[in-house]
Amino acid sequence: MNDPVVIETIAGLRATLAGREVAFVPTMGALHEGHLTLVREALELAPTVVVSIFVNPTQFGRGEDLDRYPRDLEGDLAKLAAEGVEVVFAPSAEEMYPPGGAGTTVVGGPVAGMFEGRARPGHFTGVLTVVSKLLHIVQPKVAVFGRKDAQQLFLVGAMVRDLDLPVRIHGAPTARDADGLALSSRNRFLSPEQRLAARALPRALEAASSAADGGVDAVVAAAQSVLMDEELLSLDYLAVVDPATFLPVSDDHRGVAKTIVAAKVGDTRLIDNDDLYLNPAR
Ligand code: PAJ
Repeated sequence: MNDPVVIETIAGLRATLAGREVAFVPTMGALHEGHLTLVREALELAPTVVVSIFVNPTQFGRGEDLDRYPRDLEGDLAKLAAEGVEVVFAPSAEEMYPPGGAGTTVVGGPVAGMFEGRARPGHFTGVLTVVSKLLHIVQPKVAVFGRKDAQQLFLVGAMVRDLDLPVRIHGAPTARDADGLALSSRNRFLSPEQRLAARALPRALEAASSAADGGVDAVVAAAQSVLMDEELLSLDYLAVVDPATFLPVSDDHRGVAKTIVAAKVGDTRLIDNDDLYLNPAR
């Protein structure tokens, strides 16, 4: 496979993509099988696939892991070449945010201040602003996001609807390791003991689904008991939300729902989620 062409400027990318029908996969690099799942779905959706690799500084809070965020452009390009991706957009921070820029941002609705947004103030403003910029730069017909980051996927979908952006947002399933842990570029920071503790996240989601017949409170209790047993893990939030609104559901909620969870294992923050069906017959 040929290496993808790597474009670093907005003008260069626009010139390359003129008139092409594009499926777009935005990433921060350090690509793993989860990202490649998105790429494979994108390849089915349009004749040209563009992958962006940009560690967006504005979505990291002070004291977060921007400096230790893994970077491996060479390795990323080899993986994308093997998938048959032709175009990679890898701008510098200065290309995306020229000094003295006006500071216009995209602020999400109330959901942007909950869950991940509460733990990481300003995070989703950084995400939505850069995603909006990238969508305007690439002008894809479809953009692919992972369901692993369920709140991000929800907020991007809401932004596209609220601002009438001419793009379809496609959600792709979560890729997991054999032990159930959702793939993440942050998993590499886990020691072997921490890795064992981190497996409580997918196990808690499994326990949640198994308890679905008992209603929302039973779901939360089942997941909580798995997480509480894990000494190395400190729970940030656990909630059952309505996929249509991303707001917590009440105990009498029936039909589709989503269990979302975030926890810290050592210094590493992990998130996961799973769909749930609360039986209307109960
Ligand atoms: P990043 O964490 O690199 O993730 C890029 C995309 O890969 C996101 O849509 C994310 O949901 C998806 N992804 C990550 N792990 C996955 C897994 N295990 N299975 C399936 N998909 C997975 O998310 C971002 O970057 C940034 O916030 C970005 C959208 C690029 C804006 O800067």
